[in-house]
Amino acid sequence: MKSARPEIEVKNLEMAYGSYVVMRDLSFSINQGDVFVIMGGSGCGKSTLLKHLIGLLVPSKGEIYLKGEDFVAAEPEEKTAMLRQFGVLYQGGALWSSMTLAENVALPLEEYTSLSHSEIQEMVSFKLSLVGLAGFEDFYPAQISGGMRKRAGLARAMALDPEILFFDEPSAGLDPVSSRRLDDLILQLRESLGATIVVVTHELPSIFAIGTNAIFLDPETKTKIAEGAPKDLLEHCEDPKVHRFLTRSSN
Ligand SMILES: Nc1ncnc2c1ncn2[C@@H]1O[C@H](COP(=O)(O)OP(=O)(O)O)[C@@H](O)[C@H]1O
Ligand SMILES: [Mg+2]
Repeated sequence: MKSARPEIEVKNLEMAYGSYVVMRDLSFSINQGDVFVIMGGSGCGKSTLLKHLIGLLVPSKGEIYLKGEDFVAAEPEEKTAMLRQFGVLYQGGALWSSMTLAENVALPLEEYTSLSHSEIQEMVSFKLSLVGLAGFEDFYPAQISGGMRKRAGLARAMALDPEILFFDEPSAGLDPVSSRRLDDLILQLRESLGATIVVVTHELPSIFAIGTNAIFLDPETKTKIAEGAPKDLLEHCEDPKVHRFLTRSSN
C-alpha cells in the first residue's frame, strides 16, 4: 500500500526571523504514509518548521518540494492548489468560540468548495462522526472538554480530505487517557484515509506509539542531529541529547 515517493522534500533549509537564524542546513524527506515526528526541546524551532512546511513562513535559504514541485517558488494560484491538499491542526485546536462545532467544520468547505448547504451539512456530520463527535454538531467549543475540542479541530482539519495532515502538539494539555485516544484516532485516520501525517510533539508515549520516522532538532548546533524511526533512535542513537530526550521519565 505504501509507496516510497517523497511527499515532502526539504533541502538545505534555513529558517530565520529577521537576522535571528532558528535552524539551518535542514534536509529530510517525508514519505507517503509516514507519521513523521518533529522532535526537540521547547523553543528549538518545531513550530517554525511546521509553518515553513505549510507555507506560512518563507525560508531564508533552501528549498521545499511537495511531490517534486517547488513549493517555495510556486506562483500564488499554484500554491493555493498545493495548500488545498493540507489539513492543519494548530496548537490549542483553535476553534472559533462563537461558532458551533458544525459551523467550525463547515468553514473550509464553504470557503473552498461549491457544495450546497445540505451537502456541507452532510459532510460536516460525517467528519464529526469520524472523530467520535456525532450528535455534537450544535455544541459550542466552551461546552465540551479539551479532548473533544482537539477532536473537533481534527474534524475541521480533515474537512477537505487532505492528503497531508499537520499537527502541532495535538495532545498538549490533555490528560493521558484523552491523549492516547487522540493517538489512536490519528493512526485510525491514517489507515482509513491513507494520509501522510506530520506531527510536532514531545510526548514520549505518542512518539513511540505513532511515529514511523522522526527528526530531532537541536538549538545549540541549530540543525537536525538525528533522523530515523523513534524506536531505532532509542536503541541505536548515540547522541547523548537525543538519548536523554527519548529516555526521560517526565515531560
Ligand atoms: N514570530 C517570531 N518572531 C521572532 N522569533 C520567534 C517568532 N516565533 C518564534 N520565535 C523564536 O524562534 C525560536 C523557535 O520557536 P518555535 O518554533 O516556536 O519553537 P518550538 O515550537 O520548538 O517550541 C524560539 O527562540 C522563539 O522565541
Ligand atoms: Mg511550538
